[in-house]
Amino acid sequence: MAACCSVAGVPGVSGVATVSLISFRAQNHRQQVGKRGALDKVDDRRTPRELFGPLHDEFRFTLDAAASADNALAPAFFDLEADGLRSRWSGRVWCNPPYSDCGAWVRKASYEAQWCELVVMLLPANRTEQAWWQDWIEPRRRDGSLEVRFLRGRLRFDTPPGTYSDPRGNRPPFGCCLVIWR
Ligand SMILES: C[S@@+](CC[C@H](N)C(=O)[O-])C[C@H]1O[C@@H](n2cnc3c(N)ncnc32)[C@H](O)[C@@H]1O
Repeated sequence: MAACCSVAGVPGVSGVATVSLISFRAQNHRQQVGKRGALDKVDDRRTPRELFGPLHDEFRFTLDAAASADNALAPAFFDLEADGLRSRWSGRVWCNPPYSDCGAWVRKASYEAQWCELVVMLLPANRTEQAWWQDWIEPRRRDGSLEVRFLRGRLRFDTPPGTYSDPRGNRPPFGCCLVIWR
């Protein structure tokens, strides 16, 4: 099994709010990342504490599969170096993946869920027409072998201090959902 990292604390995250479409400027859209690759500071949208707290109470996560030392939400985590897309997952897994590459993370979760106790992934809920949703989530949602929870309202993600000066970027103009493989 690939090495993963450990962390003692859970970072602070904040609020729930709505956002107007006009004020949001995408920076890691599929059409933008093709040549330059995804910007990690843009992908570093941290789960609001108000959302994560009750989820952690319910699921008691042991591994955060997409994280860094200062945003990990479980006692063990994979960061860019350990590479959650190439490592073996185990236990009770939380994953708020980089939204620039949802397909790779959903496919990975589907595979790793075979030997994990559970995997919970926070995903955008406005891409259900895309191949990754249609291939990896929709069939199993329909046959009841995974659960999808569509979240009320829009999340306000937290971002690393000083790396994202435009607070409007914290509030993507789409709803999110939780996909749960057990
Ligand atoms: C959306 S943030 C999630 C932050 C926090 N762990 C959470 O759940 O709220 C995604 C994180 O995954 C990290 N990341 C990106 N690619 C990764 C990879 N291949 N393996 C592990 N982590 C990765 C990013 O650096 C970023 O810190």
